[in-house]
Amino acid sequence: MIFVIEHLDVLSKWILAEYKHSYEIAKNEKVDLLITGVKIEGLPSTEKRFYEIFNPENVIILDPQAEEELKPNDKAEAIIIGGILGDHPLRGRTKTLLSDIFPKAKKRNIGKLQFPIDGALYVAIQIMKGKRLSEIPIVFGLSIITNFKGLEEEIYLPFAYPLVNGSPLISEEVIKYLVGNRNYRLKWGGKEEEIEFNYQGQSFLSR
Ligand SMILES: C[S@@+](CC[C@H](N)C(=O)[O-])C[C@H]1O[C@@H](n2cnc3c(N)ncnc32)[C@H](O)[C@@H]1O
Repeated sequence: MIFVIEHLDVLSKWILAEYKHSYEIAKNEKVDLLITGVKIEGLPSTEKRFYEIFNPENVIILDPQAEEELKPNDKAEAIIIGGILGDHPLRGRTKTLLSDIFPKAKKRNIGKLQFPIDGALYVAIQIMKGKRLSEIPIVFGLSIITNFKGLEEEIYLPFAYPLVNGSPLISEEVIKYLVGNRNYRLKWGGKEEEIEFNYQGQSFLSR
């Protein structure tokens, strides 16, 4: 079993940061990851599309609009995650760009809430390692709060995030992309976490 991110969006700084974080997650969890549809220096990736490597009949496509939930006993050669950034509200791009094109692939959801690419990868890994979706703590909605010239600014991300050691799993490079070098606080589900800016390319997994 390998986890695959099929690149289907513009290769922006944001998506690249999620890909890099996905690779950190895969290494940390000791699973194989391949990014298909684009070759990116330093990441396990290929210009080949996933269907040039795997028979679509033997893969599971993760789609928030799929009817069935991903379960630990699901079997596949590869789990395909859309390399597609989040939309709010959900536009169903995974369905249009993947599920509808490969009718013979199995489709599974990891709940109805939309996870970022790296978060979806993390949740899928936990399920394939034996956890049920209901056993994975998640939070919906994450605010990044900064102070700019004495005024508080809040960036609200309307997505679902797995909680790892009690904190939302989000790429620090994505945060840096959004707030620059300012200190920030994260707020979710009534909790706040103060974070001094100390960006070193680390993820929450390695803190
Ligand atoms: C940020 S989501 C993009 C969703 C996209 N905006 C859409 O309209 O379908 C990136 C990828 O993570 C996976 N994903 C995220 N949340 C999911 C969920 N609740 N169930 C299944 N897959 C999910 C899907 O493979 C999806 O293509």
